[in-house]
Amino acid sequence: MNSAILGTGSYVPNRVLTNADLERMVDTSDTWIVERTGIRERRLVEPGQACSDLALEAAQRALLAANVKAGDIDLILMATCTGDTPLPSTACLLQHRLGATRAAACDISAACCGFVYALSIADAYIKNGMRYVLVIGAEVMSSITDWTDRNTCVLFGDGAGAVVLGQGSSETGVLSTHLHANGRLSDMIHVPGGGSKEPASKDVLDNKRCFVKMKGNETFKIAVKSMEEAAQEAVRANGVTLDDVDMFIPHQANMRILNAVRQRLGFSQEKLMINLDKFGNTSAASIPLALDEAVLSQRIQKGHLVLLAAFGAGLTWASALVRW
Ligand code: UT7
Repeated sequence: MNSAILGTGSYVPNRVLTNADLERMVDTSDTWIVERTGIRERRLVEPGQACSDLALEAAQRALLAANVKAGDIDLILMATCTGDTPLPSTACLLQHRLGATRAAACDISAACCGFVYALSIADAYIKNGMRYVLVIGAEVMSSITDWTDRNTCVLFGDGAGAVVLGQGSSETGVLSTHLHANGRLSDMIHVPGGGSKEPASKDVLDNKRCFVKMKGNETFKIAVKSMEEAAQEAVRANGVTLDDVDMFIPHQANMRILNAVRQRLGFSQEKLMINLDKFGNTSAASIPLALDEAVLSQRIQKGHLVLLAAFGAGLTWASALVRW
Protein backbone atom coordinates (compact mmCIF):
# COMPACT_ATOMS: atom_id res chain seq x y z
CA MET A 1 0.00 0.00 0.00
CA ASN A 2 1.20 3.51 -0.81
CA SER A 3 0.73 6.48 1.44
CA ALA A 4 -1.78 9.00 0.08
CA ILE A 5 -1.99 12.78 0.31
CA LEU A 6 -5.42 13.13 1.94
CA GLY A 7 -5.50 16.92 2.02
CA THR A 8 -3.40 20.02 1.33
CA GLY A 9 -3.33 23.51 2.85
CA SER A 10 -1.26 26.66 2.69
CA TYR A 11 -0.93 30.12 4.15
CA VAL A 12 1.01 33.29 3.36
CA PRO A 13 1.17 36.41 5.52
CA ASN A 14 -0.80 39.48 4.36
CA ARG A 15 2.09 41.91 4.00
CA VAL A 16 3.22 42.29 0.35
CA LEU A 17 6.72 43.49 -0.59
CA THR A 18 6.85 44.46 -4.28
CA ASN A 19 9.86 44.97 -6.51
CA ALA A 20 9.04 48.70 -6.40
CA ASP A 21 9.42 48.55 -2.60
CA LEU A 22 12.83 46.87 -3.03
CA GLU A 23 13.90 49.61 -5.46
CA ARG A 24 13.64 51.98 -2.51
CA MET A 25 15.72 49.69 -0.24
CA VAL A 26 18.70 48.57 -2.40
CA ASP A 27 20.29 49.39 -5.77
CA THR A 28 18.00 47.24 -7.95
CA SER A 29 15.13 47.58 -10.41
CA ASP A 30 11.85 45.86 -11.13
CA THR A 31 13.17 45.11 -14.64
CA TRP A 32 16.30 43.35 -13.32
CA ILE A 33 14.38 41.29 -10.75
CA VAL A 34 11.68 40.22 -13.23
CA GLU A 35 14.16 39.42 -16.02
CA ARG A 36 16.69 37.59 -13.82
CA THR A 37 14.30 35.82 -11.41
CA GLY A 38 10.64 36.11 -12.55
CA ILE A 39 9.66 37.37 -9.08
CA ARG A 40 7.25 40.34 -8.90
CA GLU A 41 6.34 40.35 -5.22
CA ARG A 42 6.71 38.29 -2.06
CA ARG A 43 4.93 38.03 1.31
CA LEU A 44 6.59 38.93 4.60
CA VAL A 45 5.52 38.33 8.20
CA GLU A 46 4.47 41.20 10.44
CA PRO A 47 6.68 41.85 13.50
CA GLY A 48 5.89 39.19 16.08
CA GLN A 49 4.58 36.70 13.52
CA ALA A 50 6.71 33.52 13.54
CA CYS A 51 7.15 30.29 11.60
CA SER A 52 4.67 28.39 13.80
CA ASP A 53 1.99 31.03 13.13
CA LEU A 54 2.22 30.42 9.37
CA ALA A 55 2.47 26.64 9.88
CA LEU A 56 -0.61 26.58 12.13
CA GLU A 57 -2.84 28.15 9.46
CA ALA A 58 -1.51 25.88 6.71
CA ALA A 59 -1.84 22.77 8.91
CA GLN A 60 -5.42 23.58 9.94
CA ARG A 61 -6.40 24.01 6.29
CA ALA A 62 -4.76 20.70 5.33
CA LEU A 63 -6.51 18.87 8.20
CA LEU A 64 -9.87 20.33 7.15
CA ALA A 65 -9.29 19.31 3.52
CA ALA A 66 -8.27 15.80 4.65
CA ASN A 67 -11.16 15.56 7.12
CA VAL A 68 -8.73 14.41 9.79
CA LYS A 69 -8.85 15.63 13.41
CA ALA A 70 -5.70 17.03 15.03
CA GLY A 71 -6.09 14.49 17.82
CA ASP A 72 -5.75 11.63 15.33
CA ILE A 73 -2.33 12.68 14.01
CA ASP A 74 0.49 10.28 14.93
CA LEU A 75 3.47 12.34 13.77
CA ILE A 76 4.21 15.96 12.84
CA LEU A 77 7.22 16.62 10.59
CA MET A 78 8.04 20.28 10.15
CA ALA A 79 10.47 21.13 7.36
CA THR A 80 12.05 24.48 8.15
CA CYS A 81 15.37 26.28 8.50
CA THR A 82 13.74 29.32 10.14
CA GLY A 83 11.92 27.84 13.16
CA ASP A 84 10.58 30.06 15.95
CA THR A 85 13.56 29.31 18.25
CA PRO A 86 16.62 26.99 18.15
CA LEU A 87 15.03 24.97 20.97
CA PRO A 88 12.47 23.35 21.15
CA SER A 89 11.47 22.26 17.66
CA THR A 90 8.79 24.32 15.94
CA ALA A 91 6.94 21.04 15.31
CA CYS A 92 6.44 20.73 19.11
CA LEU A 93 5.07 24.29 19.32
CA LEU A 94 2.68 23.40 16.52
CA GLN A 95 1.69 20.11 18.16
CA HIS A 96 0.51 22.05 21.22
CA ARG A 97 -1.29 24.76 19.27
CA LEU A 98 -3.09 22.21 17.06
CA GLY A 99 -4.06 20.08 20.04
CA ALA A 100 -2.41 17.08 18.38
CA THR A 101 -1.77 15.54 21.77
CA ARG A 102 -1.03 12.00 20.49
CA ALA A 103 1.50 13.13 17.89
CA ALA A 104 5.27 12.82 18.07
CA ALA A 105 6.86 15.94 16.58
CA CYS A 106 10.21 17.06 15.19
CA ASP A 107 11.74 19.47 12.70
CA ILE A 108 13.51 18.39 9.50
CA SER A 109 16.41 20.52 8.31
CA ALA A 110 17.08 20.10 4.59
CA ALA A 111 16.59 23.71 3.41
CA CYS A 112 14.61 24.00 0.17
CA CYS A 113 14.42 20.19 -0.06
CA GLY A 114 12.96 19.96 3.44
CA PHE A 115 9.40 19.26 2.35
CA VAL A 116 10.35 16.40 -0.01
CA TYR A 117 12.69 14.96 2.64
CA ALA A 118 9.88 15.14 5.24
CA LEU A 119 7.40 13.64 2.78
CA SER A 120 9.79 10.75 2.21
CA ILE A 121 10.12 10.08 5.96
CA ALA A 122 6.35 10.34 6.43
CA ASP A 123 5.81 7.93 3.53
CA ALA A 124 8.09 5.36 5.19
CA TYR A 125 6.16 5.60 8.47
CA ILE A 126 2.78 5.24 6.76
CA LYS A 127 4.06 2.23 4.80
CA ASN A 128 5.12 0.83 8.17
CA GLY A 129 1.56 1.05 9.51
CA MET A 130 1.26 4.56 10.96
CA ARG A 131 -2.16 6.13 10.31
CA TYR A 132 -1.76 9.91 9.86
CA VAL A 133 1.33 12.09 9.43
CA LEU A 134 1.17 15.87 9.10
CA VAL A 135 3.97 17.21 6.89
CA ILE A 136 4.60 20.94 6.80
CA GLY A 137 7.04 23.20 5.00
CA ALA A 138 7.10 26.61 6.67
CA GLU A 139 9.64 29.41 6.50
CA VAL A 140 10.20 32.96 7.63
CA MET A 141 13.06 33.55 5.21
CA SER A 142 12.82 37.30 5.92
CA SER A 143 14.35 36.57 9.37
CA ILE A 144 17.62 35.31 7.82
CA THR A 145 17.71 37.76 4.89
CA ASP A 146 20.17 40.65 4.76
CA TRP A 147 17.92 43.47 3.58
CA THR A 148 20.96 45.49 2.43
CA ASP A 149 22.29 42.73 0.12
CA ARG A 150 20.71 43.03 -3.33
CA ASN A 151 22.16 39.65 -4.36
CA THR A 152 19.83 37.81 -2.00
CA CYS A 153 17.11 40.10 -0.60
CA VAL A 154 15.15 40.23 -3.85
CA LEU A 155 14.78 36.43 -3.86
CA PHE A 156 13.11 35.27 -0.66
CA GLY A 157 9.63 35.30 0.86
CA ASP A 158 7.69 33.86 3.82
CA GLY A 159 4.95 31.22 3.71
CA ALA A 160 3.77 27.74 4.67
CA GLY A 161 2.26 24.67 3.03
CA ALA A 162 1.08 21.39 4.54
CA VAL A 163 -0.22 17.96 3.61
CA VAL A 164 -1.85 15.18 5.61
CA LEU A 165 -0.54 11.75 4.68
CA GLY A 166 -2.53 8.60 5.36
CA GLN A 167 -3.09 5.08 4.05
CA GLY A 168 -3.67 4.94 0.29
CA SER A 169 -4.06 2.16 -2.25
CA SER A 170 -1.49 0.26 -4.29
CA GLU A 171 -2.20 2.37 -7.42
CA THR A 172 -2.47 5.87 -5.97
CA GLY A 173 -0.48 8.00 -3.54
CA VAL A 174 3.26 8.50 -3.13
CA LEU A 175 4.81 6.12 -5.67
CA SER A 176 8.42 6.85 -4.74
CA THR A 177 10.76 9.45 -3.25
CA HIS A 178 14.44 10.08 -4.05
CA LEU A 179 16.78 12.00 -1.75
CA HIS A 180 20.36 13.21 -2.35
CA ALA A 181 22.99 15.39 -0.69
CA ASN A 182 26.51 16.66 -1.35
CA GLY A 183 27.96 18.31 1.75
CA ARG A 184 31.17 19.14 -0.12
CA LEU A 185 29.26 22.08 -1.59
CA SER A 186 27.88 23.30 1.75
CA ASP A 187 29.28 26.81 1.29
CA MET A 188 27.24 27.48 -1.87
CA ILE A 189 24.22 28.55 0.22
CA HIS A 190 24.71 29.00 3.96
CA VAL A 191 24.18 31.09 7.08
CA PRO A 192 27.69 31.16 8.59
CA GLY A 193 26.89 32.53 12.07
CA GLY A 194 24.37 32.12 14.85
CA GLY A 195 24.94 28.37 15.35
CA SER A 196 27.40 26.49 17.58
CA LYS A 197 30.37 27.34 15.33
CA GLU A 198 29.86 31.09 15.68
CA PRO A 199 27.27 31.57 18.45
CA ALA A 200 25.06 34.67 18.34
CA SER A 201 27.10 37.74 19.30
CA LYS A 202 27.41 41.42 18.48
CA ASP A 203 30.26 40.49 16.12
CA VAL A 204 28.08 37.98 14.24
CA LEU A 205 25.35 40.59 13.91
CA ASP A 206 27.68 43.47 12.95
CA ASN A 207 29.26 41.34 10.23
CA LYS A 208 25.86 40.10 9.04
CA ARG A 209 26.91 36.48 9.52
CA CYS A 210 23.44 35.44 10.69
CA PHE A 211 22.05 36.00 7.16
CA VAL A 212 21.95 33.85 4.02
CA LYS A 213 24.99 33.99 1.76
CA MET A 214 24.70 32.45 -1.68
CA LYS A 215 26.94 31.90 -4.69
CA GLY A 216 23.97 32.54 -6.95
CA ASN A 217 25.43 31.96 -10.36
CA GLU A 218 27.21 28.68 -9.50
CA THR A 219 24.16 27.47 -7.58
CA PHE A 220 21.98 28.21 -10.60
CA LYS A 221 23.85 25.78 -12.87
CA ILE A 222 23.88 22.95 -10.32
CA ALA A 223 20.17 23.53 -9.55
CA VAL A 224 19.16 22.96 -13.18
CA LYS A 225 21.24 19.79 -13.53
CA SER A 226 20.23 18.31 -10.15
CA MET A 227 16.49 18.91 -10.51
CA GLU A 228 16.55 17.43 -14.00
CA GLU A 229 18.39 14.33 -12.71
CA ALA A 230 16.02 13.93 -9.74
CA ALA A 231 12.98 14.20 -12.03
CA GLN A 232 14.41 11.64 -14.46
CA GLU A 233 15.19 9.30 -11.56
CA ALA A 234 11.59 9.44 -10.30
CA VAL A 235 9.99 8.47 -13.61
CA ARG A 236 12.63 5.80 -14.32
CA ALA A 237 12.04 4.17 -10.93
CA ASN A 238 8.33 3.80 -11.68
CA GLY A 239 8.55 2.54 -15.25
CA VAL A 240 6.70 5.59 -16.62
CA THR A 241 7.86 8.28 -19.03
CA LEU A 242 8.00 12.06 -18.73
CA ASP A 243 5.07 12.16 -21.18
CA ASP A 244 2.95 10.41 -18.54
CA VAL A 245 3.48 13.27 -16.05
CA ASP A 246 0.47 15.63 -15.80
CA MET A 247 1.88 18.26 -13.44
CA PHE A 248 5.48 19.22 -12.62
CA ILE A 249 5.95 21.12 -9.35
CA PRO A 250 9.59 22.17 -8.89
CA HIS A 251 11.03 24.19 -6.00
CA GLN A 252 10.26 27.82 -6.86
CA ALA A 253 13.76 29.38 -6.84
CA ASN A 254 14.05 31.27 -10.12
CA MET A 255 11.87 31.37 -13.26
CA ARG A 256 14.91 30.82 -15.48
CA ILE A 257 15.81 27.67 -13.50
CA LEU A 258 12.21 26.42 -13.76
CA ASN A 259 12.06 26.99 -17.50
CA ALA A 260 15.50 25.47 -18.12
CA VAL A 261 14.50 22.31 -16.22
CA ARG A 262 11.10 22.22 -17.97
CA GLN A 263 12.75 22.45 -21.39
CA ARG A 264 15.34 19.77 -20.59
CA LEU A 265 12.53 17.44 -19.47
CA GLY A 266 10.40 18.30 -22.52
CA PHE A 267 7.38 19.53 -20.53
CA SER A 268 4.92 22.04 -22.01
CA GLN A 269 4.39 25.33 -20.15
CA GLU A 270 0.94 24.07 -19.04
CA LYS A 271 2.46 21.17 -17.10
CA LEU A 272 4.73 23.49 -15.08
CA MET A 273 3.31 24.88 -11.82
CA ILE A 274 4.61 28.39 -11.15
CA ASN A 275 3.68 30.75 -8.32
CA LEU A 276 7.11 32.22 -7.63
CA ASP A 277 6.06 35.51 -9.26
CA LYS A 278 3.73 36.09 -6.26
CA PHE A 279 5.72 34.54 -3.40
CA GLY A 280 9.44 34.43 -4.33
CA ASN A 281 11.62 31.63 -2.98
CA THR A 282 10.00 30.35 0.24
CA SER A 283 12.52 27.50 0.71
CA ALA A 284 10.85 24.42 2.31
CA ALA A 285 7.40 26.02 1.92
CA SER A 286 7.67 26.48 -1.84
CA ILE A 287 6.57 23.02 -3.05
CA PRO A 288 3.60 22.52 -0.65
CA LEU A 289 2.51 26.12 -1.33
CA ALA A 290 2.51 25.48 -5.08
CA LEU A 291 0.95 22.03 -4.60
CA ASP A 292 -1.96 23.47 -2.63
CA GLU A 293 -2.55 26.16 -5.26
CA ALA A 294 -2.55 23.50 -8.00
CA VAL A 295 -5.09 21.43 -6.03
CA LEU A 296 -7.37 24.38 -5.17
CA SER A 297 -7.34 25.66 -8.77
CA GLN A 298 -8.16 22.10 -9.92
CA ARG A 299 -5.06 21.92 -12.11
CA ILE A 300 -4.45 18.62 -10.33
CA GLN A 301 -7.25 16.11 -10.87
CA LYS A 302 -7.87 12.61 -9.54
CA GLY A 303 -5.63 10.14 -11.40
CA HIS A 304 -3.02 12.75 -12.36
CA LEU A 305 0.66 11.92 -12.11
CA VAL A 306 2.38 14.71 -10.14
CA LEU A 307 6.16 15.12 -10.12
CA LEU A 308 7.85 17.12 -7.35
CA ALA A 309 11.52 18.16 -7.62
CA ALA A 310 13.57 20.23 -5.20
CA PHE A 311 17.04 21.66 -4.82
CA GLY A 312 18.71 23.69 -2.08
CA ALA A 313 21.35 24.31 0.57
CA GLY A 314 23.38 21.35 1.74
CA LEU A 315 23.59 20.93 -1.16
CA THR A 316 20.52 18.72 -1.33
CA TRP A 317 18.24 17.62 -4.16
CA ALA A 318 15.19 15.38 -4.17
CA SER A 319 12.09 14.26 -6.05
CA ALA A 320 8.79 12.48 -5.49
CA LEU A 321 6.24 10.98 -7.86
CA VAL A 322 2.63 10.98 -6.69
CA ARG A 323 -0.45 9.45 -8.33
CA TRP A 324 -3.35 11.69 -7.26
O1 UT7 B 1 16.57 27.97 -3.23
C1 UT7 B 1 17.88 27.53 -3.22
C2 UT7 B 1 18.44 27.51 -4.54
N1 UT7 B 1 18.74 28.84 -4.99
C3 UT7 B 1 18.89 29.05 -6.25
O2 UT7 B 1 18.74 28.15 -7.02
C4 UT7 B 1 19.30 30.42 -6.68
C5 UT7 B 1 20.10 30.31 -7.94
N2 UT7 B 1 20.62 31.56 -8.46
C6 UT7 B 1 19.86 32.54 -9.00
O3 UT7 B 1 18.67 32.52 -8.95
C7 UT7 B 1 20.60 33.62 -9.73
O4 UT7 B 1 21.95 33.30 -9.81
C8 UT7 B 1 20.43 35.04 -9.13
C9 UT7 B 1 19.04 35.56 -9.39
C10 UT7 B 1 20.74 35.00 -7.65
C11 UT7 B 1 21.41 36.00 -9.81
O5 UT7 B 1 21.22 36.00 -11.20
P1 UT7 B 1 22.48 35.84 -12.19
O6 UT7 B 1 21.96 35.92 -13.56
O7 UT7 B 1 23.19 34.59 -11.80
O8 UT7 B 1 23.29 37.14 -11.86
P2 UT7 B 1 24.81 37.28 -11.37
O9 UT7 B 1 24.94 36.82 -9.96
O10 UT7 B 1 25.71 36.67 -12.38
O11 UT7 B 1 24.97 38.85 -11.41
C12 UT7 B 1 24.85 39.59 -12.60
C13 UT7 B 1 24.97 41.08 -12.27
C14 UT7 B 1 26.11 41.42 -11.30
O12 UT7 B 1 26.66 42.64 -11.71
P3 UT7 B 1 28.08 42.69 -12.49
O13 UT7 B 1 29.05 42.04 -11.55
O14 UT7 B 1 27.86 41.90 -13.74
O15 UT7 B 1 28.30 44.15 -12.71
C15 UT7 B 1 25.39 41.62 -9.98
O16 UT7 B 1 26.07 42.51 -9.13
O17 UT7 B 1 23.77 41.53 -11.64
C16 UT7 B 1 24.09 42.22 -10.44
N3 UT7 B 1 23.02 42.05 -9.48
C17 UT7 B 1 21.94 42.85 -9.43
N4 UT7 B 1 21.60 43.94 -10.16
C18 UT7 B 1 20.42 44.52 -9.85
C19 UT7 B 1 22.88 41.07 -8.54
N5 UT7 B 1 21.72 41.25 -7.88
C20 UT7 B 1 21.13 42.35 -8.40
C21 UT7 B 1 19.92 43.00 -8.13
N6 UT7 B 1 19.61 44.09 -8.89
N7 UT7 B 1 19.07 42.61 -7.18
